[in-house]
Amino acid sequence: MSEPNEAQSALWNKRGGEIWVEQQPMLDRLFQPFERILAEAVEAAGARSVLDIGCGAGATTLAAAQRLGALGRCVGLDISATMIEAARRRAEAAGLVNIRFRVADAQTCDLEPAHFDAIVSRFGVMFFADPRAAFANLRRAAAPGCRLPAAGCRLTLIAWRSPADNPFMLAGERAASAFLPELAAFDPTAPGRFAFADAERVRGILAAAGWAQIETTPLDVACALREQELDVYATRMGKLGQLPPHLDEATRAQIDEAARRAYDPYVEAGEARFSAACWRIEARAG
Ligand SMILES: C[S@@+](CC[C@H](N)C(=O)[O-])C[C@H]1O[C@@H](n2cnc3c(N)ncnc32)[C@H](O)[C@@H]1O
Repeated sequence: MSEPNEAQSALWNKRGGEIWVEQQPMLDRLFQPFERILAEAVEAAGARSVLDIGCGAGATTLAAAQRLGALGRCVGLDISATMIEAARRRAEAAGLVNIRFRVADAQTCDLEPAHFDAIVSRFGVMFFADPRAAFANLRRAAAPGCRLPAAGCRLTLIAWRSPADNPFMLAGERAASAFLPELAAFDPTAPGRFAFADAERVRGILAAAGWAQIETTPLDVACALREQELDVYATRMGKLGQLPPHLDEATRAQIDEAARRAYDPYVEAGEARFSAACWRIEARAG
């Protein structure tokens, strides 16, 4: 029988994960504001035991572990062995001993019951085949109220709002859809970048999974890429990083050119500047 998140696992263990590891310095610089927000949330919660879901190459897990120091322990969990390998290397290089990484599917894996004071994620929770089951699994791992002065484990997630709110992310794919129309297709409930775009749906998922005090707050963050990073961002990330291998070279070159040019209007003083339209999603374990 196949695993529920088999397709996502295949993606993130191969090209999806490889490009994130390869481009980790660029992505971490780009998403640094969100890393800070999550590290601050962990500190504000007074957490001693933190779980980072879909931690990837570990930027937010490392930031949380650095904030907590000897007071706390952090676990980074990801379905991608490729990403976790990179995260372990970084933790070792940083000399962090209060951190552990685990390759596992957050939807189905065994987690220590009632254990974590804070659960966080930076763009790592939109890929579950069954999000309600995943968040019920995480709810079981959440520490109850008595462990913290405020009520129970604190869940803090960052996820993308809609494609319409994030034209920068899709500029390349939209331009390239002139060559491959399937690039324009989008299913708002399928696992993927924008699966948490509908805040009402997200609140329903969390409530059904047993979370309380659910809040979804729009978060608009100014981000910038260096102009020389645009080639990779435009042509190797997202759907353009997953083009069919049989595509002929001439078409691929045309697609890359169209995708790259789509970012020209964003460039100013050597940087591509845009606003990242996200949700800050918060909830408590009772
Ligand atoms: C967009 S990346 C974000 C990585 C990291 N949080 C960051 O901000 O750099 C999404 C991550 O979610 C992970 N992921 C997807 N499905 C997962 C699942 N079912 N369980 C655990 N991790 C998952 C992927 O492997 C990937 O590392």
